[in-house]
Amino acid sequence: MSADHPAPASPANDAEPVVITVDAADPRYGFGVDVGGSGVKGGIVDLKTGELVGDRFKITTPQPATPDAVAATVAQIVDHFGWTGRVGITLPSVVAGRIVRSAANIDKAWIGIDPYELFGRHLSSPALSVLNDADAAGLAEVEYGTNDDAVDGVIIMLTLGTGIGSAVLLPGGQLLPNTELGHLQVDGEEAEAQASSRAKEVNEWSYKHWAGKLSRVLAEYEMLFSPALFIVGGGISRKAHKWTPLLTNSTPVVPANLRNTAGIVGAAMAAEAGMRP
Ligand code: BGC
Repeated sequence: MSADHPAPASPANDAEPVVITVDAADPRYGFGVDVGGSGVKGGIVDLKTGELVGDRFKITTPQPATPDAVAATVAQIVDHFGWTGRVGITLPSVVAGRIVRSAANIDKAWIGIDPYELFGRHLSSPALSVLNDADAAGLAEVEYGTNDDAVDGVIIMLTLGTGIGSAVLLPGGQLLPNTELGHLQVDGEEAEAQASSRAKEVNEWSYKHWAGKLSRVLAEYEMLFSPALFIVGGGISRKAHKWTPLLTNSTPVVPANLRNTAGIVGAAMAAEAGMRP
């Protein structure tokens, strides 16, 4: 946190996250909420630095993760911060043309709904942006994370977790939304079934074996997009030093820098930009 932020309103402790009050009308600040299969996380974002202002606030994803239950949880997080400005929200879904078109790790009742109508009923925010979780993470990483100034070309960000999320960023940082590269068939099987971190875990593969699978998937992406850089996020990217040297691809692969705040930060950026993929 930079020195010129307002002072915390309450002391830090585990049960009571630090909540800092900022002026929602100040364009320096934004608000993002990242909806995942296990947790819904949100916080105030400093759009100048890409850092969170105070702590993020996390609530366990309601089960079943139906649209109204999740939207009520998102509203609880926004209210927790007393935030009244624009809000960006990620979903583990394809969100295109104001419609949620897929639902990974959340209730299938999401498919076909208008997320703006849904969140509009639960939040009093003046403007909303709803986008795919990996797209949000990619936007944030390219803007604030990886030092990509020297990268001349397409950047592909992959989140390796339960599935594989993807964000394709064009030169200049523009997002090609909803690429869903985790569902590409590689050697007769979906990429995420063989190269997500869950695939490594459930099959009890060594890093070496799993890196072989991931190299094969990345090679397919290289053939299709000729990227200049892959950025890898997700919990397993914390141990990237153990497996990136085992990859056989010609494109550089670097770990994400923003880690578990990327979705929140990217959501806030999308809201600020008025993005509605
Ligand atoms: C979904 C994507 C999502 C990714 C990460 C995939 O299974 O299809 O939409 O971005 O998981 O949550």
